[in-house]
Amino acid sequence: MRNITLFTALLIVNTFFLQGICDFEFKRRASKSTKILGFSWANCGKPDAPAVMKSLDLSPDPISIPGDLTASAAGSTTVALVAPLAVNVTLQKEVAGFWVKVPCVEEIGSCDYPDGCQLLDMLIPPGQDCPEPLHTYGIPCHCPFKAGVYSLPQSDFYLPDIDLPYWLTNGNYKVEGVLGSAGQELGCLKVAFSVHSK
Ligand SMILES: *[C@@H]1O[C@H](CO)[C@@H](O)[C@H](O)[C@H]1NC(C)=O
Repeated sequence: MRNITLFTALLIVNTFFLQGICDFEFKRRASKSTKILGFSWANCGKPDAPAVMKSLDLSPDPISIPGDLTASAAGSTTVALVAPLAVNVTLQKEVAGFWVKVPCVEEIGSCDYPDGCQLLDMLIPPGQDCPEPLHTYGIPCHCPFKAGVYSLPQSDFYLPDIDLPYWLTNGNYKVEGVLGSAGQELGCLKVAFSVHSK
């Protein structure tokens, strides 16, 4: 995996990759041709939200799993992000023209994670180097994240043939992630994409 910023780490990684390593029974093997199409994103917090995504570019479109992904991203926070850092994810799927909330099952779906810092510690054991290219660019991968700008230059990743969540069937999806601390909303990012696998 190549570089991922603060927000990508917290929201994208947690949403896709962490959810991809949960209970086996709820997974199906990614077929050889799972494609993610039309990825788009936007900030959805208040105009004065302390944490914002400034850029997030993924290519190609469609993204193939397994396959290569090129990503660049930049985000900033005007406050330090410290534990416990709530990450509340809402995932919706379009069903017959309506957006339906995918429930939280086994920590997957629309889940409220009380502490994203703990999730990061689970994914990346503290004390070892952050995965590349975070390490190369000196981007931290554990809390606390100091106030500042975090940017990931364009980087290449290989997406392995991971087990995708069982509900990730063909269709259109929206994911909203809200970052909060001490009852305050620090930032909000929403992404949309379509899934197509044969
Ligand atoms: C996240 O969810 C928890 C529990 O459902 C709630 O108490 C908290 O206010 C939410 N935080 C944000 C920032 O939305």
